[in-house]
Parts: sequence; structure tokens; C-alpha cells
Amino acid sequence: MKILIDDANIEAIKKLYPVFPIDGVTTNPSILAKSGRQPYDVLREIRAFIGADAELHVQVVGRTADAMLEDVERIHSELGANTYTKIPVNTAGLEAIKRLRKAQPSAHITATAIYTPMQAFLAAKAGADYTAPYINRIDNLGADGTQTAKIIQDMFTQNGLPCQILAASFKNSQQVQELAQYGIGAATIAPAVIEGLVKNASVAAAIDDFTHDFEALCGAGVTMKNAK
Ligand code: E4P
Repeated sequence: MKILIDDANIEAIKKLYPVFPIDGVTTNPSILAKSGRQPYDVLREIRAFIGADAELHVQVVGRTADAMLEDVERIHSELGANTYTKIPVNTAGLEAIKRLRKAQPSAHITATAIYTPMQAFLAAKAGADYTAPYINRIDNLGADGTQTAKIIQDMFTQNGLPCQILAASFKNSQQVQELAQYGIGAATIAPAVIEGLVKNASVAAAIDDFTHDFEALCGAGVTMKNAK
């Protein structure tokens, strides 16, 4: 399962990137608004930091298929070929995905704002590379977010659709773990939730115990590098 950072905060991205096995960055209009900076200023900085080969997902804002496709054109020209344009799946979005796939067979398309399996199915048939179900937001509606992602995965397999899932909107490690166990293609996760994937008081205590025992034997500050 690929792991992407769901944020536009360049400091948070710079902190996580060297530590975690990260495959790219996703943003949406709300995330860009939270950065408080002009969209292309922050997106160009993210692209420069993650490099030309990493996945960067950027959402269109236009409300009609024509306006969405104009957004796609500008996004690609500003941010390079390996940029996935996120298109929300309403009727205008479906039309935009279908037209974009026909006009540009190699375009990278992420169908987003997925709350139901049928949205994902239609987007995949229209030509999306990824569909992004919103796990926690679905849970908040009283439905089951991880189960929805699994149903989508099964629908793709049963129908021979080459589309991948980019699961989004996580609030805890359990949601991520369940989808990794199921072999979901990718997950985009906010920085605090990524850090929480390895934050564990028992692990920290175990590592402290190892250090204390070793220093009791060899002296404070001694490691395997300078032990006798
Ligand atoms: C990704 O495509 C979504 O925009 C994002 O993950 C939504 O996350 P949220 O539910 O935490 O806002």
C-alpha cells in the first residue's frame, strides 16, 4: 500500500518525508485554504521538495465539466506530468473524467469525494486511475468507511477494472491497518495520523529499558560504536 501525506504544510511534509516511506502528497481546496498561502505558490514548493517523480494530487475547483478541464490544464502546466488531478465524482465530475481520459489517454486522474461504491465504480469505468473513498467521513455518517473501501476493491476485481483505491480521510491507525491488511493500493493520511502509526508507549518504554541496561554495563552515553 502506498502512503501519501494529506497536507500542504511544507514544514510537516519536510519533517515526515525523510523518516517515513512516503510516496507522495495529496491536497484538496480546504487543505490549501488552511495553508493560508496562494495555491500555486505552495504547490510548486511541494513539487520542488518531493521531486518530479513523486505523486502529487491536486483537486480541481471548477463546478462544470468544462471548468474542471480548464483547471486540469493549468494544474498540469504548473506542476508537471506526474501530477494527478483530483476530480470530485458528481455528474459534472464524471463527464470531466470521461472527456479527459478520451482526450489524454496518459493523464493521471484521481476520482475524489467518494462516499459510495457506485460512485467509485462509475469513475473507474469512466477512466480514473484512482478513486478516493473518504473513510472517516463515511464512518461519521453512520456507515462503515473501511468496509466501503473493501467493497470498492472487490467490485474492481470482479469487473476487471484496473483502477486503484487511494483511501482518504483517516482518523486513526486501525482504519489504516485494516486497509493495508486488505491490500488496498494507497492511503493518504494527515501528518498527525502518520506519526501515530508508530507512536506507542510500550515501544518507547522497551527502548528506554534497553538503553538503561546497556549504560549500566558500559557507562552513560556508550553505544555499540564505542563499547569495549
Ligand atoms: C482526500 O482526497 C480528502 O480530500 C481528504 O483526505 C479528506 O480528509 P478529511 O475528512 O480529514 O477532511
